[in-house]
Amino acid sequence: MSVSYVLDQVRARPSAAVPLSSPLEPAELPTPALVLNRPALQRNIQKMAAFLSERGKGFRPHAKTHKCPLICAEQLSAGAVGVCVAKVGEAAAQIAGGVEQVLITSPVTTATKAQVVGELALLAADLNIVVDSVLGLQMLQRQLPQAARLGVLVDLDVAMGRTGTRSVETALELIERVAADARLTFRGVQHYAGHLMHIEAFAQRREKSLALWSSVAEMIAQVEAQGISCEIVTGAGTGTYNIDTEVDALTDLQVGSYIFMDEEYRQINGAAQSRFEDFEVALHVACTAISQPRDGAITVDGGYKAFASDSVAPVSDELAGVQFYFAGDEHGVLALPKGEQSVRLGQVLQFVTPHCDPTVNLHDYYWIQEADGLIHSMWPITARGCAW
Ligand SMILES: Cc1ncc(COP(=O)(O)O)c(C=O)c1O
Repeated sequence: MSVSYVLDQVRARPSAAVPLSSPLEPAELPTPALVLNRPALQRNIQKMAAFLSERGKGFRPHAKTHKCPLICAEQLSAGAVGVCVAKVGEAAAQIAGGVEQVLITSPVTTATKAQVVGELALLAADLNIVVDSVLGLQMLQRQLPQAARLGVLVDLDVAMGRTGTRSVETALELIERVAADARLTFRGVQHYAGHLMHIEAFAQRREKSLALWSSVAEMIAQVEAQGISCEIVTGAGTGTYNIDTEVDALTDLQVGSYIFMDEEYRQINGAAQSRFEDFEVALHVACTAISQPRDGAITVDGGYKAFASDSVAPVSDELAGVQFYFAGDEHGVLALPKGEQSVRLGQVLQFVTPHCDPTVNLHDYYWIQEADGLIHSMWPITARGCAW
C-alpha cells in the first residue's frame, strides 16, 4: 500500500455539510436513508458533557460511532478534551476534516500504519496513540519523522482479552522507551471493558466494571510507584458512563453510542429503569414499504446493506410489537398481526438501529432533521469504511 496514495484518497473525501436547496419531508427521502435528528443529537451531547463535567471527569467521545468531523466539532465545542478513533484510517479522515485532538485507541504493528501515524503526527496538533507491545512501539519509532510529535498511552487489559497488556513490566518498559525518545510523550493509560457494556442488570454491570477498575488502579499504582505520573487515564463507554465516574483514577470517558443510542443499548437496564433511556434515540434508518407479498407481511427496502445485523433486529417505535425480519441484502419483512393493515405501500417508516456504529458505516451521509421535522442538509460520513 502506498501511504501517500491512501492518504490522498482519504483527504479527497467530503467533510462539509451539504445544505438542501429546499427542505425535504422525511417521507420524501430516497430510502433507505440514515436520518439524524439534530436537536436530539445536541441534547445527548450536552447531557453527557454536563454529566461528566459535574463529576470532574473529562469528555473524550469515541468518534468510531459517528465517523463525522462535523459531529466531532459539536462534541469539541461542548467541551470535549479530544476525540477517540478506533483506527489509523479513521484518524486520517478526521484529521483531514479539521479535527486536531485525536486518540487512536487501537495499537499498530506494521510499518505501513506506523508511517501513516507519522504523517498524521505532522498534521495534527495533538495526536495520540495507544501501544501495548515493544514491537508496535518500535515500529512507530522507526517511521516517525524527526519533526513529528506523538502522545503515547499504554493500553491495559485486565479481562476483555482484546487489546492491551496485562503485564506491568511491559507497561514500564514501554514507558521507559517512550521517555527516551524526544518525539514521544508518555500521556497515560487506557482501559476499555467492552464486554461489560451490555450487561442487562445495572447492579451487575456496576459491580463488574468497578472490580475491573480496581485492578487497573493497582496497575497504575505500580507504575506511579516508579515516579511516573499518568496524566490521562481514559476508558469507559456508554453502558458504564454513570458507573465509571465513581472511579477516582479515571480522568476521561470514551463514550460513543450515547450520541445516537441504539436498540442494543435500549434493551439494557438504566440505573433506575428497566430500559436504558438516559439518552434519546437521535438516529433512525428511514425505509419505505415497497411490497405486500401476503397478508400479514409487508416488505420494506432496507436489509443487510442498510442495517448492521450483528445483534438484535431493527425496531420501529411507530409499530409497537411488529417484528422485523431480514430478507436479504436490500429488504426486510415486517410481520403484521393477521388481518391488520397498519402499514400502507409507499409509507416511510423510521427504524431504530440495532447497533449504531456498524450501521453508520453502511451509509455515505446523514440526512439532518431539524426542529421543524424537515431535512435541511446532508452531513458526510467522512470516515466511512476506513476500518484499517
Ligand atoms: C476503546 C473503546 N472505547 C470506547 C468505546 C465506546 O463504547 P460505547 O459505544 O459503548 O460508548 C468503544 C466502543 O467499542 C471502544 O472500542
